[in-house]
Amino acid sequence: MPRYYVTTPIYYVKDAPHVGHAYTTVNADALARWHRLVGDEVFFLTGTDEHGQKVARAAEEQGMAPLEWTDQMAPRFAEAWAGLDVANDDFIRTTEPRHREAVQRFLSAIYENGFIYKDTYRGLYCVGCERYYAADELLEGGRCPDHQTPLEELEEENYFFRLSAFEDRLVAWYEADPTAVAPESKRNEALSFIKGGLRDISITRTSIDWGVRVPWDDEHVFYVWYDALINYVTAIGYGEDPERFAEWWPAVHHLIGKEIIRFHCVWWPAMCMAAGIDPPAHVQVHGWLLLGGAKMSNSSVNRITPASLAEEYGVDPLRYHLLRDIPLGSDGEFSAEGITARYNADLANNLGNLLSRVATVVGSKCGGTGPAPDPASRLAAVAAEVVADTAAGWDASRPDLGLEATWRLIRETNAELEAAEPWKAEPGPAVDAVLGSALEALRIVAVLASPALPATTREIWRRIGLDGLPEEQRLPAAAAWCGYPGGLPVEKGAPLFPRRKD
Ligand code: ME8
Ligand code: MG
Repeated sequence: MPRYYVTTPIYYVKDAPHVGHAYTTVNADALARWHRLVGDEVFFLTGTDEHGQKVARAAEEQGMAPLEWTDQMAPRFAEAWAGLDVANDDFIRTTEPRHREAVQRFLSAIYENGFIYKDTYRGLYCVGCERYYAADELLEGGRCPDHQTPLEELEEENYFFRLSAFEDRLVAWYEADPTAVAPESKRNEALSFIKGGLRDISITRTSIDWGVRVPWDDEHVFYVWYDALINYVTAIGYGEDPERFAEWWPAVHHLIGKEIIRFHCVWWPAMCMAAGIDPPAHVQVHGWLLLGGAKMSNSSVNRITPASLAEEYGVDPLRYHLLRDIPLGSDGEFSAEGITARYNADLANNLGNLLSRVATVVGSKCGGTGPAPDPASRLAAVAAEVVADTAAGWDASRPDLGLEATWRLIRETNAELEAAEPWKAEPGPAVDAVLGSALEALRIVAVLASPALPATTREIWRRIGLDGLPEEQRLPAAAAWCGYPGGLPVEKGAPLFPRRKD
């Protein structure tokens, strides 16, 4: 059985999760659900990044010890994801003993392989990014290009990772597998950064002690990024359960925002090589959710939490908007108008309307019992194309394209009903054939859309009288035409998506 290991970045527990974090997490969840649907063995990991100065300062501002703070913040992330119907298989916290042990093993391997040495470092540090910058990377006035804040001058005796030794190997890796980093524009960005020459990087700190201790020198703790990246191997048993580790690594799909390309597409593969394991198979880079043209962040969206949006629009409409309107790889503006327009067009007018008219007419013309589909329906061929196009979209890590393809079946089924007008016709075989085929289309849509709309598709499934759950079906078998048996009770129910006016 093919395996699909998908990860999100582990988020800083500096503040509550915002919609930008939800964007990555919902995409990872939907991809994981798609892969479960096609029968892959899936492991979906998310979690929290709890060390480093940024988190230590957030705790300090609250007058709390760092661990006290992170113990209270980490569950807020787990709860936010549960509230969005995110079904992760594991939730990793970098303060867990399993992670500390993996970090120490991983970095000891690099040390023993001769890629770590001690030196003095002087540089400009951004606490927001948790990294040093070179002067030519900064905005006017020496400000951080991401946070726009002035940097701090630091000087420390540090251990360094010999990143410079990996230039050629990294280039060879990129050239051997041109799809390892996607989309291509981001691959090229990472590759040209590597080709421009790599400097060694400082990987430990003595100035703080909120971190994982360096096992061979306990005056130092590892720099937070070095600790954080290793979470991806901790969770699958690195150094602890070699068999399990070999099953999942390196076939991973890292989903990340574009501001952390350098860590995931340069440092991390080099760290893996230095530790003697294969680099990750796939890094999927996505763009930013923008708010008024600027990157959405904790400061800009204090009150736009995923929970408040889910309350306003519903969990599935929020998921659908994130998946459908901001293609993985591009930036996208987040707005109330955008989510409302998508809600009305695709959910209220198309999907919700289809279910409600089919259920109503089955009630009035078929006594509430759903008829069997017509094997010769024009929709059978449409469905076959839709299934193929939907799969192609999801397989390319493009939920927007997968969903766009699925919605074609909804539109064509509505068009078929409008042409046949079964609500005006006498009950009989012709009406049964049209309605049975519409029910079959709804059944197939419920399966195909289940990664995006888990609760909605469960409800459609139930209302058209089917047993089990759409997400328990397996593609491609579950999408074969004439899967709806007929003879099942169809429930009308309240509108799934009442039209929104705002
Ligand atoms: O970088 N649009 O954590 P972080 C889209 N702890 N995605 C966004 C976003 C936005 N406006 N804002 C945040 C860290 N994200 C490190 C990661 S991994 C080993 C360590 C998402 O809390 C996106 O996935 O700053 C981005 O890469 C991530 O949150 C950054 O979260
Ligand atoms: Mg960030």
